[in-house]
Amino acid sequence: MSINFNDQVAIVTGAGNGLGRSHALELAKRGAKVVINDLGGARDGTGGGSEAAKEVVALIEANGGEAIANGANVADFDQVQQMIEQTMGKWGRIDVLVNNAGILRDKSFAKMDLADFQTVLDVHLMGSVNCTKAVWDIMREQSYGRIVMTTSSSGMYGNFGQANYGAAKMALVGFMNTLVLEGKKYGVNINTLSPTAGTRMLEDIIEDKQVMDLMSVESVTAALVTLCDRDAPNRTILCAGAGGYATTHIYETEGIFLPPSEQTPENVRANMDAIHNTQGEKMLLAGFEQTNKFVEKAIAYIKSQ
Ligand SMILES: NC(=O)c1ccc[n+]([C@@H]2O[C@H](COP(=O)([O-])OP(=O)(O)OC[C@H]3O[C@@H](n4cnc5c(N)ncnc54)[C@H](O)[C@@H]3O)[C@@H](O)[C@H]2O)c1
Repeated sequence: MSINFNDQVAIVTGAGNGLGRSHALELAKRGAKVVINDLGGARDGTGGGSEAAKEVVALIEANGGEAIANGANVADFDQVQQMIEQTMGKWGRIDVLVNNAGILRDKSFAKMDLADFQTVLDVHLMGSVNCTKAVWDIMREQSYGRIVMTTSSSGMYGNFGQANYGAAKMALVGFMNTLVLEGKKYGVNINTLSPTAGTRMLEDIIEDKQVMDLMSVESVTAALVTLCDRDAPNRTILCAGAGGYATTHIYETEGIFLPPSEQTPENVRANMDAIHNTQGEKMLLAGFEQTNKFVEKAIAYIKSQ
């Protein structure tokens, strides 16, 4: 059965350009009423204007859909709160939140100004936190919600010149992991998209036009839509680009146990191969699973004495 968002309301941040624009157009095409949030700034977050968001609204309306433009800066909680009030006033519910707005301030860490580090955290991390906080009670009360974070391979694996961006993007994975635990009984699923697409964000990194064309925003949006759906997974990091789709996970090795008299740095170093051994490694679904594993090994040792 095809995925639809009939009778649902979606907010897409940073929907005036690139991926957000594509996500918003597809959600609207599939029946959602969509809030097109965009500050309208340059790639580094400077400047602003409402043209881009209004153009997306006009496109949706021309295709028979419903949308409203909103110019909130996601890094400003008061503006986000007003956006949520505007949405609730107009449509009375919010089913889907796509945290997509983002900027870049790339420089090697040695040259990076702390103000640029903070600004990138403010937009990516606090922007997603602000929007999620503002819809959280609404989704809990209606016992339904789909929230998507947007991470990046730069966050999960690193990228030269993107210490600020990588830190902010990986923080969103941590944010998701706890929200999943807190949202589960209210029917609120949280997932993370890791895109790679030929938008203005990559235009000076990838110069080959053919490659940029392969990395279409639509190919990424196909993945995003599955994370917004009623049948969405929970806690998935879905990677998408150029028609490729994958997931990524954090695993923990089974590890070793050292009795108290052997708990020295030299013994930890001497056992590094066994600590790294991936046989039996697991994805842990809450932080306490790690604590329990270690404590169980320590108790087993005490009992064996
Ligand atoms: N393009 C890629 O390959 C790629 C890779 C990994 C992650 N991402 C992430 O995907 C998301 C979209 O990126 P894109 O490539 O479409 O970039 P883009 O620059 O084309 O679009 C980002 C949009 O966000 C808006 N925006 C920026 N700051 C805002 C703020 N404070 N409040 C509201 N709107 C704001 C911008 O005006 C812009 O329209 C970003 O979070 C980005 O980090 C993109």
